[in-house]
Amino acid sequence: MNIAVIGTGYVGLVTGACFSEMGNHVACIDIDVKKVEKLRKGIMPIYEPGLEDLVKRNYQDGRLEFLTSLHEQSIEPDVYFIAVGTPSDEDGSADLQYVLAVAKEVGKYITKYSVVIDKSTVPVATADKVRQVIRAELKQRKLQIDFDVVSNPEFLKEGAAIDDCMRPDRVVVGTDSERARTLLKELYAPFTHNYERMIFMGIRDAEMTKYAANAMLATKISFMNEIANLCERTGADVENVRRGIGSDSRIGFSFIYPGCGYGGSCFPKDVKALIRLAEQYDFEPKVLYAVEARNELQKNILGQKILAKFGGDLSQIKIAVWGLSFKPGTDDMRESPAILFLEKVISRGATVKAYDPEAMSVAKRELPVSWFNEEKLVLTQHQEEVLKDADVLVLITEWKQFRNPDFTKIKASMRGNVIVDGRNQYDPAQLQALGFEYVGIGRRTTPLPYNKMTSIVQEEEVCIAE
Ligand SMILES: NC(=O)c1ccc[n+]([C@@H]2O[C@H](COP(=O)([O-])OP(=O)(O)OC[C@H]3O[C@@H](n4cnc5c(N)ncnc54)[C@H](O)[C@@H]3O)[C@@H](O)[C@H]2O)c1
Repeated sequence: MNIAVIGTGYVGLVTGACFSEMGNHVACIDIDVKKVEKLRKGIMPIYEPGLEDLVKRNYQDGRLEFLTSLHEQSIEPDVYFIAVGTPSDEDGSADLQYVLAVAKEVGKYITKYSVVIDKSTVPVATADKVRQVIRAELKQRKLQIDFDVVSNPEFLKEGAAIDDCMRPDRVVVGTDSERARTLLKELYAPFTHNYERMIFMGIRDAEMTKYAANAMLATKISFMNEIANLCERTGADVENVRRGIGSDSRIGFSFIYPGCGYGGSCFPKDVKALIRLAEQYDFEPKVLYAVEARNELQKNILGQKILAKFGGDLSQIKIAVWGLSFKPGTDDMRESPAILFLEKVISRGATVKAYDPEAMSVAKRELPVSWFNEEKLVLTQHQEEVLKDADVLVLITEWKQFRNPDFTKIKASMRGNVIVDGRNQYDPAQLQALGFEYVGIGRRTTPLPYNKMTSIVQEEEVCIAE
């Protein structure tokens, strides 16, 4: 099949690479000229395990090409994937300007019956808007060409995106057209070969499914973070509680890890967008409000633990940070809890040395230049380098290489002895035996005297007010 994928970011590039691997001809299109030029030279714009090999092989074999406009395309596409961003608008709703701009382009260049597949995460009823825009363009061109608009939300996880695309749990397709359904079945056949993974439904059902999935996962995270906060205050250990509830098959172990809040390009914006969607229908989404509010507080938790330990003036404090990306396996720093943490401690005078296995160039590009110029933030080449003379080590992203470090070496290298474990990766008893002061999330050993807790509660109230 001939496929145009419009938007060559995390979703578009992975989708394009996987469909070309299955023998299709794919044009990945992006308005970012530099990105396209780099891709043509084999330079990946993102880090995603396995992506580079897949892209290079299919590009060299001629099944995958990179273009800056649909206009450049020589082969007529059978399907158009819309895979552009849908960031939060000022009021939190999904900004559809990029999706609708692509719809306009499709309307300009479509030449035969094709299926326009919306892979971007979009609010219910967006397919109707996409259809209207394409129709308006066709009217201007005085042409009558049949087309269908289908919702096919993407569920890939950054860090495991190739695997998710090649072996999806499910392929959700929202369509009201038998012709589109047949074409989508054919398109996805190589990925659903061993058993049927396609779930067909109405277009609005599919649009809502994506938001409901992300909101459910965000809810699990926020719920567990709430329990962790309660554990901290009552002397229970959330790690025991987690094991205790996860073993219930109705609950399960996934997405109940307490930590420093969810980040990334999807959960925060999608929860917000679902809230705004509900409000547009005069419906108060009480659970979603709470999920978002808990997360806003939780993203501040590591900074608060540092303030509780060292006081409000951090000008003499050296902080070592492991992990900057919003989760392991990606260089994506969008909405990473690391950003809020750095803002908080640097604004209080701390100096920070940080290391991340993949997100260093993104950090250099995205974080304030003044932090680097004034040496408030130094990025190091190796994870051990951040430790030298540090008062505290803060684990923010649980990359595998941080899981079992040599704590004796760490102790010798640091000036202080505090470890703030933002992902509950370490054994408090083991660290305490080695002479560390361990601070986790909701762990019984977290040494928070009552007066410090009071200041945290006050700070939480400030956050809620904001
Ligand atoms: N990143 C994820 O893990 C993930 C997972 C599932 C769903 N999604 C959803 O998929 C969509 C894309 O997300 P992403 O993370 O890949 O975004 P991204 O920001 O990484 O990539 C979007 C790309 O679209 C390009 N673009 C914008 N306007 C364009 C236009 N008119 N023509 C051509 N290209 C254009 C941008 O230059 C950019 O390269 C979003 O709606 C997101 O919510 C993302």
